[in-house]
Order: sequence, then C-alpha cells, then structure tokens
Amino acid sequence: MNLKDHIREVPDYPKPGILFYDISTLLAHAEAWHETIEQLALVIEKEKPDVLAGIESRGFLLAAPLAMRLGMGFMMIRKKGKLPGKTIPYTYDLEYGTDTIEIQEDAIKPGQRVVMLDDLLATGGTMEAAVALMKQAGADVRRIACIIELNFLKGREKLGDIPVTSLIQYD
Ligand code: PRP
Ligand code: MG
Repeated sequence: MNLKDHIREVPDYPKPGILFYDISTLLAHAEAWHETIEQLALVIEKEKPDVLAGIESRGFLLAAPLAMRLGMGFMMIRKKGKLPGKTIPYTYDLEYGTDTIEIQEDAIKPGQRVVMLDDLLATGGTMEAAVALMKQAGADVRRIACIIELNFLKGREKLGDIPVTSLIQYD
C-alpha cells in the first residue's frame, strides 16, 4: 500500500502559495491508518521506550494508538495553559513572537526513554522545542517519528543527532 496516495493535497491553505498535506483522508481510511500505525510501531518498539510523547494536537492522533498498541503509556506535550497542576514550560521563538509548550512536572522521570510523535515535520521548530523541553525534564529522547516530512524545509537539521523516522517524504 502506498500511504502517500492517502494524503490529500490542498492548495493555498492556510495561505496563498502553500500546499497543505492533509492527513484527514489517511485517518478516514481504515486500512491505510492501520498500516500507518503498524509501520511506526515496528520502528518505535526497537527503541524500547518507557513512554511515548505526543505533541498537541495532531501528535496525539499517533501517540495514543501507538502507546496502546505497544503496551505503554503516553504523555501530552501541550500548548500553554491547558494542563492542570505544576508544569514545566518551554518558550521558543517563532517568525513573529514566541510560543510556549508545557508538560506536567511528573510526566517524565529523569532517564526515561522517550519516543516523540507528531504528524508532520516541516521547519522542525515545533519538534525542536518539544525535544528541548523533554531534555530539560531529564528524558532520554531516543527517536522522533512522524508520518510526513517536508524534506525541502530541512527540519531534521534542527534535531541534532536524534534519529528521525518519517513514512512519507516530499521534496
Ligand atoms: C503543525 C503540525 C506540526 C507542526 C509542524 O501543527 O501538526 O505539529 O505544525 O511544523 P514545524 O515543523 O514547522 O514546526 P500546528 O501547529 O498547525 O497545530 P495542530 O497540530 O494543533 O494542528
Ligand atoms: Mg501539530
């Protein structure tokens, strides 16, 4: 099965000139979605993670079924202000302004092996910040996994020596 056939390409979204790769059509196709999860599960289980980390919001779509499939827990990396109790925030620069993500203070124990999940690696800014936050919390980040990678934006260059797995690439 060619998973790329299940990605819908939407021109001029969210802005004129941008071609948006929409995973809704992949999610809606039972076999293609099952295959997506199975392919990622194969790669992730080799890392023997203690926990999976999903980045709000589309990263949750992957982290939840994969954690259940692999028999482990998952944690949420959320946009600021969404998590109750004590949190560890991380603020990073955007083209204009800044953004903050956070995790709950007890979500990770120092030294725990973590695999990071998101649907898409574009500029890598989101994943770079998420990795920095996890490292700040003492996590041992073993791998980054996503469905789609936009090679031309060179996001993986921001991620140092952490191995990156993507199932579908665009040049
Ligand atoms: C999208 C996508 C990734 C991120 C990739 O999320 O789901 O998380 O952007 O871009 P980057 O590599 O350039 O940082 P978005 O912020 O649109 O939010 P969503 O997941 O809540 O839809
Ligand atoms: Mg996202």
